[in-house]
Amino acid sequence: MASEHQHPHNGEGENSWEGDFDPFADPEERRVLFAAFDSFRQYRRNAHMNTTHRRRQAFYALPSAHWQMLSEPPFSILDNFNKVDDAIDTNAEMADAILEIGLQSFGLSIAPDKNDPTQNWHDTATSSDVNKAHSTIRQFYRDWSLEGQAEREVCYDPVLQDLHHEFQTRRDSGEDIRVLVPGAGLGRLVFDICMAGYDAEGNEISYHQLMASNWVLNHTKGPSKHALHPFALHFSNLQSRTQQLQKVQIPDVHPGAAMQEAIGSGRRLGTMSMSAADFTVLYAQPDNKESFDAVATVFFIDTAPNLIRYIEAIRHSLKPNGIWINVGPLLWHFDDGHSRKTNDVGHESGIGEPGNVELSEEEVLSLVERMGFRIEKNGDRRACGYIQDPNSMLQNLYQPSHWVARKLPVV
Ligand SMILES: C[S@@+](CC[C@H](N)C(=O)[O-])C[C@H]1O[C@@H](n2cnc3c(N)ncnc32)[C@H](O)[C@@H]1O
Repeated sequence: MASEHQHPHNGEGENSWEGDFDPFADPEERRVLFAAFDSFRQYRRNAHMNTTHRRRQAFYALPSAHWQMLSEPPFSILDNFNKVDDAIDTNAEMADAILEIGLQSFGLSIAPDKNDPTQNWHDTATSSDVNKAHSTIRQFYRDWSLEGQAEREVCYDPVLQDLHHEFQTRRDSGEDIRVLVPGAGLGRLVFDICMAGYDAEGNEISYHQLMASNWVLNHTKGPSKHALHPFALHFSNLQSRTQQLQKVQIPDVHPGAAMQEAIGSGRRLGTMSMSAADFTVLYAQPDNKESFDAVATVFFIDTAPNLIRYIEAIRHSLKPNGIWINVGPLLWHFDDGHSRKTNDVGHESGIGEPGNVELSEEEVLSLVERMGFRIEKNGDRRACGYIQDPNSMLQNLYQPSHWVARKLPVV
């Protein structure tokens, strides 16, 4: 998969995937792209089916005196199913909008010719693809809602503080500071870094994430224009139904408007772009050698089957004395969805390579040092969730590492 860029803008209907990127060139890459489209198409039907339809059937299977009692206030279980259906429809509007923009960008039709395998993306998603559409929609809570600020404070703010600490003076004297954000997710950290006056390049491998970030960065109509019920599809650990049906508005900050405003007030903005690629492949290439002043990885390094490859790519793309800022836990998880043929000769490379290893934090830090970095800051550990409902009776909390490593000029 080659590199591709998107830029926030105010215009409508512009193609934000221009460049040399052609997922149609490789049938496997096309399959992955089509499955991502189809998963957003299926979001609505799948959510109704698995969330409310099944529960209604199970509810009516109770002894009739029981379900009747639970249909009355204060329980009103059937009414709640209806409200959850409404919430699903609200969320599905976002899935539809992401799909529409994505299809437009690739010149595909919403109703493709079913006999043309190069165009027909319908019914290509597996259940794993549809699950990714679900988690991508929920992720807007973390990156683009006011309520997600608590998570961003722990995960993204330290990155901005470390960048300021290192580069503020150089930035203020007019120097361009380039920051790479691998595994950029829905793009909020990339946007915040750009707003802080640094040139931010996000990188993502997932079409789900790329389509969703493209939509929110370039195609939303204004602040708080889209409603999301991030927790509506979950029925456990609820203190109340109000909690289940909580609604948040997306985006809390409208990227285009915020940038226009900053430009209007004479504030220095950085540039912003996004590459679509396996990080270990693209950033190990010669033209990315020593091109970034900083790399910021947030909840990212544990996606590595082989962390050594990630460190090699980070080291390669960082300038001498450049810094690597890391925030995140070590929940090792490898994308098992598909292997990608990402090099020119068609061999498995990048995260498609065989083998994987899971390291402890101590081992990670030793490895980073062994591979030519000096750990300069480590230790302030703050707990946070990842798309965590703060009112849930179950709190999944991480205590992520936060460290800064400097690339030493010679290994
Ligand atoms: C746990 S998410 C974190 C997203 C975001 N940084 C955040 O904090 O919300 C990890 C992201 O890394 C992406 N990713 C995983 N392996 C990658 C690779 N080899 N190259 C680029 N992105 C990758 C995934 O698609 C996913 O969006």
